[in-house]
Amino acid sequence: MFITFEGTEGSGKSLQARRLSERLRAQGRVVLLTHEPGGTPLGTELRGLLLHRDELQLTGRAEALLMNASRAQLVETLIRPALERGEFVVCDRFADSTLAYQGAGRGLDGQELASVISFATAGLQPDMTMLLDVPVEVGLARKHVQDQRNRFEAEALAFHTRVRAAYLAQAHADPQRWWCFDGTEPPDSLADSIWQTVMERMGRRT
Ligand code: TYD
Repeated sequence: MFITFEGTEGSGKSLQARRLSERLRAQGRVVLLTHEPGGTPLGTELRGLLLHRDELQLTGRAEALLMNASRAQLVETLIRPALERGEFVVCDRFADSTLAYQGAGRGLDGQELASVISFATAGLQPDMTMLLDVPVEVGLARKHVQDQRNRFEAEALAFHTRVRAAYLAQAHADPQRWWCFDGTEPPDSLADSIWQTVMERMGRRT
């Protein structure tokens, strides 16, 4: 089972991805917990370029391709092999981030991005995607102090508002794959809700 977490800045998805992985492991399941951009030596290098190198003045298309280069490496070297071994994969962000950030955020065409994603992932899609939805002001306030913000966190409120709206639209359009959670709920009750959702979904598969 391949489970991804999505959300705007400071939505708490990294914590929830970790909590879910811990709970699955406590049940004796093998879990690969990973994240994007990153997760491999190449991905870690690309993450540094993508998040912190303002002076490179990446174009939107270059940004989309680098995100997908990181994704291709992660899918081929770690995610697909883990799924083939029958393990759980929990990924903090995946292809839907590209549609939300480079699509709605940067204004790139969704169809074109979808074909880049399809090439990068060789068609791999998550079984379940957890959207942690928070008002953008709340999420940004949870993040680093202003002068330590990465290239994305430093974007204008309007950018983050478009990203949030795109996530909600994606979740609405595909309720078979997406589950939407209120990211302002306390972390413990959120972790319980997510756990319940995963258990229900697994119950339906067996
Ligand atoms: P992340 O490490 O999740 O940051 P945070 O936990 O602070 O939200 O993601 C880094 C940034 O990369 C995040 O601002 C969103 C952005 N991103 C994209 O723009 N496109 C993508 O395809 C991915 C995977 C991430």
